[in-house]
Amino acid sequence: MFTQSLKPVLLSFFTGVFNHRSIGKTMSSGSVKVSKLSIVVEALNLTKSFDGFLAVDKISFKIYEREIFGLLGPNGAGKTTTLLMLTTVIKPTSGSAKIYGYDIRNKPGKVREIVGIAFQDPKLYWVQTPWNILVWHGMVCGLSRSSARQRVEDVLKLLDMWDARRKRAHELSGGMKKRVEVAKLLIQRPRIAIFDEPTSQIDVSGKHVIWEAIRTMRDEGSTVILATNDLSEADRLSDRVCIMHRGRIVALDTPWRLKDSIVGGDILEVEVLDEAPGKMIPEIKSIENVVEVVDLKRKLKVYLNKGEETAPKIVNLLLTKGVKVSSIKMSEPSLDEVFIRYTGLSIKDAEMKLRDER
Ligand SMILES: Nc1ncnc2c1ncn2[C@@H]1O[C@H](COP(=O)(O)OP(=O)(O)OP(=O)(O)O)[C@@H](O)[C@H]1O
Ligand SMILES: [Mg+2]
Repeated sequence: MFTQSLKPVLLSFFTGVFNHRSIGKTMSSGSVKVSKLSIVVEALNLTKSFDGFLAVDKISFKIYEREIFGLLGPNGAGKTTTLLMLTTVIKPTSGSAKIYGYDIRNKPGKVREIVGIAFQDPKLYWVQTPWNILVWHGMVCGLSRSSARQRVEDVLKLLDMWDARRKRAHELSGGMKKRVEVAKLLIQRPRIAIFDEPTSQIDVSGKHVIWEAIRTMRDEGSTVILATNDLSEADRLSDRVCIMHRGRIVALDTPWRLKDSIVGGDILEVEVLDEAPGKMIPEIKSIENVVEVVDLKRKLKVYLNKGEETAPKIVNLLLTKGVKVSSIKMSEPSLDEVFIRYTGLSIKDAEMKLRDER
């Protein structure tokens, strides 16, 4: 995504980024309660157009300290453009954003001291090795040579790249290059860490390692912004998810609340041993938050809201009436259903449509 001419700009991201480490010391681990935290990023009508094409269209949002803020959307939604504006790599056409109070338009130097980014498309010089790239990166970020070497060793081992540390960049696979890009942020540990599709091209076990490393960064004090078009990645990592489509925000909330906003979105399937409990349907329907009940002979399919509260009431009712329940299965809507609700398309369909339009 970035070119050589941007190198001086990018270099300046890596200075003065270690001062925040003490911030995280008192932070408890686990999911954060975002409502009590301070705002560290505030975008107001942030807009970018390329030759009249609106890639990002007046988006406004707030990001809280020490949350993982997911930007989810299909290819072309405007995620990378948004991140490049937040990191001052490109300038907004109109609107702006403040990072820890510094405006990205007139305080780019300050902003770059706070943010770090792992780009979607890593660009490595062909003769460089992961070891050289990362030690140099650590030292540019302010680490002593010995600390940089130690941290690079730890991160390369974590990302299963230790054996590839002396390979030249042109010998690395796409997934290996991506790991080097992610490693930069894990070494840098900025106050605001921005990952643009950190696990694209990475295998399943590698994805899990990176997800855990991102959570650890959050738990240790960084605020994380994560762009992805992977529904499951957004769901499992994000404290809040901002869903983007055609340069706009279509929904923004915790994954749980977004999914819970789907009417009748939770699904409870109850299988019974002998008698079909069809005659109990009116009673089940009278339970609050039950939207629909389908009788499938030895199975009832109940569409409901607030599954955690409602499903136990249904199961209790069946058991107290003497129904022999053989299995219970709960499923919940994915963020794709949320995307469908707001756009009328699944993320995959949206990607195909946008591709056809280009
Ligand atoms: N430098 C540019 N010049 C012209 N158009 C651009 C430029 N950068 C991005 N765009 C267009 O802006 C839109 C948003 O692109 P962007 O890269 O922000 O999307 P994205 O959500 O990151 O997608 P992906 O999931 O594919 O990475 C796309 O239609 C893209 O073609
Ligand atoms: Mg992108």
